[in-house]
Amino acid sequence: MYRIDMGIDLGTSKVCIYMRDKGIVINQPSVLAYERKEKKIIAVGYKAKKMLGKTTEAIVVEKPMQHGVISEYAIAERMIKAFIKNALRKRRLLGRPNVCVTVPQGITEVERRAVEDAIVKTGAKEIFLLESPIASALGTGVDIMETTGHMIVDIGGGTTEIAIISAGDIAYGISLKIGGDDFTDALARFVRRKYNIELGELSAEDAKVEIAGVYPRTVDSSYEIKGKSQINGLPVRLDLGANETVEAFDDLVNQIIDGIMKVLDQAETELIADVGKEGILLSGGGSLIYGMDKVITARTGIKVSIADEPDSVVAAGAGMAGEYIMVQDEENKK
Ligand SMILES: Nc1ncnc2c1ncn2[C@@H]1O[C@H](COP(=O)(O)OP(=O)(O)OP(=O)(O)O)[C@@H](O)[C@H]1O
Ligand SMILES: [Mg+2]
Repeated sequence: MYRIDMGIDLGTSKVCIYMRDKGIVINQPSVLAYERKEKKIIAVGYKAKKMLGKTTEAIVVEKPMQHGVISEYAIAERMIKAFIKNALRKRRLLGRPNVCVTVPQGITEVERRAVEDAIVKTGAKEIFLLESPIASALGTGVDIMETTGHMIVDIGGGTTEIAIISAGDIAYGISLKIGGDDFTDALARFVRRKYNIELGELSAEDAKVEIAGVYPRTVDSSYEIKGKSQINGLPVRLDLGANETVEAFDDLVNQIIDGIMKVLDQAETELIADVGKEGILLSGGGSLIYGMDKVITARTGIKVSIADEPDSVVAAGAGMAGEYIMVQDEENKK
């Protein structure tokens, strides 16, 4: 079996690192803050994210990942280095680590190389790239080598990966360039349109996590949001109802459902029957928005379950992929 020392989910919203014999050691926002002039790093992860929209000219706060791929190479490299350094502090390794990093399905060769290069520069020994739906399934404990079809829908911050996995491979799958962050934007737009209130990015995300939903709750509830009035520029508060937010996400939910339908439509009858029996497995932080499982079941008739640790299961799967990678290697040699 290959020994993977580190599984890394280099996500649009978060970087998650799993270490052998230790588990998840890093689960932090993909954000880096640095001095504009000297380029010195000021903060990374949660500390840097808190600075979004709150800094002066002298400080740059950047998110170097977009739709699951590196968009700002130099920043991404420094961010990954900082996270790996922190991870290694939590557990000393003898020698250079073997790393398995997850990537979205269907990315270009150039995008793959950018990920590899950035990880090589951290001093890794061997680097394996793994498509994230496979990692998601492995991390959830699905026996992916069996011939039963399993449907995985991973809703991240900037991508939604939909795939049917069977016999150790993705039989059918697509990657959509939408994710939880688009739900945040949609909520902000909704509040602006309906109430003339401008929400900052962090406040909009808070409201989404606390109250928003893509399916009506049986008992409605509300959450106080704080923003800026578009009418007079003053601070305002508003009690935002949970069920009124559902309409804000119609378009995004439709895109996810259409994606699921498309993948089901392509698949062989036997695999569809498996999915009908096994259900759909949801992962990714975006699967935690209230009602995502319910709306998918309502629209497809298929039962849906959410992974136990939806936002770290991909990294865990990457860390456990040693045996899988070995089997793939042997197959490739044949
Ligand atoms: N409790 C929650 N309720 C609603 N949304 C949530 C919750 N927790 C996290 N999210 C959302 O999940 C998204 C991040 O998910 P995740 O960490 O899986 O993304 P990622 O892996 O970094 O991104 P990607 O896979 O697209 O590259 C963000 O949009 C975040 O707001
Ligand atoms: Mg992800």
